[in-house]
Amino acid sequence: PELPSHQLWYKDDLALMHIMVPFMNQVENMKCMDDDVFVCSWPKCGTTWVQTIVMYVMNDANLDKFGDKTIEDIFPMLELIDITGGTDIPDISAMPSPRLMKTHVPFKYLCEDIRERRKKPKIVYVTRNPKDAIVSFYHFDPLGFSIPGVTDPEYCKWTFSQYLNCFFHDATTFGSYWDHNLEFWERKDWDNILFLKYEDMLKDPRTHVVKIADFLGKKLTEEQIDTITTETSFTKMKSNNMVNYSFYNSVKLPQASPFIRKGRAGGWKTYFTVAESEKMDKIYEEKFRGTGLQHSFNV
Ligand code: PPS
Repeated sequence: PELPSHQLWYKDDLALMHIMVPFMNQVENMKCMDDDVFVCSWPKCGTTWVQTIVMYVMNDANLDKFGDKTIEDIFPMLELIDITGGTDIPDISAMPSPRLMKTHVPFKYLCEDIRERRKKPKIVYVTRNPKDAIVSFYHFDPLGFSIPGVTDPEYCKWTFSQYLNCFFHDATTFGSYWDHNLEFWERKDWDNILFLKYEDMLKDPRTHVVKIADFLGKKLTEEQIDTITTETSFTKMKSNNMVNYSFYNSVKLPQASPFIRKGRAGGWKTYFTVAESEKMDKIYEEKFRGTGLQHSFNV
């Protein structure tokens, strides 16, 4: 389908917001360090949750030292480092090590240092079932994430079915959910990649805090692990202005719908028609058959 006017096909391949394009050179050509930490994901798969756990783990369960800095300052998104053109968000080359960075860019567009394994930064990948991911993206992207003067006003009126149709054509921002997942899944056994699933995290958050800490090489006390588990629960994060993106409402995105929205699995059932759900199941089966990658679609 035709893309809304604020998006384009980057390199005739990847659907992206055009304001992200100037950052792609930096993403594709950045110099990596072995102690860098990346959180990678297709949008709306639990990125912020994992980022928040990583921030706490790296800082021994204490984030007080950051004052009123937000997750966006501490853990910037590579391809959208500053959507306002301001200077409040750090340039990644000037960030202190270990650098914490988030990206939704597919593996094939990450820098050569990572792809060719010249450097081995730690990469935590998080995935989520595509039905809940696209429902969440619908609330954030067409309905919520509207940058005045940038976002196509028509896009903000899209129905869920229109948006889902776009997903079926790999034409939502950051492109194919399937390829994105598979590119990381195929590398899940690399010693610098930790592959996580949102639904598993919901079932047992504490175990995932421990997994992430082990992966990052951090020795934490049981008490610190408890603190991190509590502080990164849905309810705590929803009211924590450092991580809940409430700063978007006042500063950047006056129409943003709550970023930390429902935080559950299975919410897709009230959005998909039976036909849409069956179509998604069919594509899921075709794309992931034989790969061993599976998601749960229910609570
Ligand atoms: S983004 O814009 O891609 O970085 O968004 P992302 O952070 O990946 O995804 C947002 C969804 O994650 C939910 N979320 C959580 N769920 C459970 N527990 C915690 N702590 C948590 N934090 C964020 C958030 O609510 C979004 O999902 P939906 O389904 O919209 O609620």
